[in-house]
Amino acid sequence: MSGAGSTEARPLTAKRSGALAGHARVPGDKSTSHRALILGLLSIGETRIEGLLESDDVLRTAQACRQLGAGIERHGDGNWSVRGVGIGGLAEPEAVLDFGNAGTGTRLMMGVVGGHPITATFDGDASLRKRPMRRILDPLATMGAQVMAQAEGGRCPITLAGARHAAPIEYHTPVASAQIKSAVLLAGLNAPGLTTVIETEASRDHTERMLRHFGAKLTVEPHGQTGRRITLTGQPELRPAPVVVPGDPSSAAFPIVAASIVAGSEVTVEGVMLNPLRTGFLTTLREMGARIEPVKQRQEGGEEVADLNVRACELHGVDVPAARAPSMIDEYPVIAIAASFAHGRTRLRGLSELRVKESDRLAAVAAGLASCGVPYAIEGDDLVIEGGKGEATGGGHVLTHLDHRIAMSFLVMGLASRRPVSVDDTAMIATSFPSFVEMMAELGGEFLGAAPR
Ligand code: S3P
Repeated sequence: MSGAGSTEARPLTAKRSGALAGHARVPGDKSTSHRALILGLLSIGETRIEGLLESDDVLRTAQACRQLGAGIERHGDGNWSVRGVGIGGLAEPEAVLDFGNAGTGTRLMMGVVGGHPITATFDGDASLRKRPMRRILDPLATMGAQVMAQAEGGRCPITLAGARHAAPIEYHTPVASAQIKSAVLLAGLNAPGLTTVIETEASRDHTERMLRHFGAKLTVEPHGQTGRRITLTGQPELRPAPVVVPGDPSSAAFPIVAASIVAGSEVTVEGVMLNPLRTGFLTTLREMGARIEPVKQRQEGGEEVADLNVRACELHGVDVPAARAPSMIDEYPVIAIAASFAHGRTRLRGLSELRVKESDRLAAVAAGLASCGVPYAIEGDDLVIEGGKGEATGGGHVLTHLDHRIAMSFLVMGLASRRPVSVDDTAMIATSFPSFVEMMAELGGEFLGAAPR
């Protein structure tokens, strides 16, 4: 795929299915997978990774790590190894770092490059080229990095010259974003002294956990009611540490919602990471009345993990506070699907960040709901959905705008709605969950149309 390239669109239709049943294992967590590769690159020696998500987004990060000097291999047993070059040891990439659809990979790697005296060009597909990067470039500039070239509005393609001598900063993130926080911390790895990030709402903390796991010194203190102050001691010697990647809760959300809304279903989703900064959607679905029981709770790779047994049930509308957004930011599209089947009204508050994801997710969800006959309103940054009392009309042809989560969400709707739901493309599902359609079909989901892979 070229920098701004696109693969051929693969439309697909989901139709009302009989009860979903069985066990499903979702792939490894995307956030953890990107970070494992990047911290592998930044330590000297070999890092082993078990359960890496082998999706397009993550493979792009692996390729970028190679371009910066890492040796990366997939072994016969499915494990990966990264031979890192260490902080300060990065090679200047000869070619463009092509991140495809991956905002996380791009932004984290901008942090890495921003703290090193090397120059790199970042680019990706049409979706990535629309995403705002100023939020990353601004703090990196105060650390000494320079933007040499950029498309209008601070968009990719962007050529970034990292700091010759990175300066540590104290940075208040303007929005609760793990990507901004992580970019600053990763740049801070090559700055002498203390780099501090302050967030008023806690965002996912995988970077912090993994930095500690690789031997960095990092303190986390509360900030205000719900925020955190994270301080990293720069220029540590990171040592390779084995990483076990737990199942991605954001991917698990799709079979969990499907099992909740397809009549008579009972599904167990195995190995789901329950990091408290990722489980807002479970809190919300449970408030809606979902029957989700954790079984076999355990620790894996430094995270709490459980198998989740989910049974279909009647859902009811809820009012989801804006403060919960960081812990369920990627799950709003599929929660909107659950809300479409609920009894009563659901209000999802404070969704401004959805406008700058792989697509304008607020607009894409709204358009999808409209084409599936679900009454909704956008009020400021809130999405209000009138549930169909256990039913949704469906019948829509949904435009996915290169957004994997829009595609998967509306396919989940089609498994339970009166009329089938079509999405214009499923190719980009491979960015996060390549086995999605296969897995849903194994559980009993019925699809019509081109195979997705
Ligand atoms: C991610 C952080 C989130 C999320 C994205 C993955 C990460 O973005 O939407 O899918 O791995 O850090 P923001 O932190 O920008 O909200």
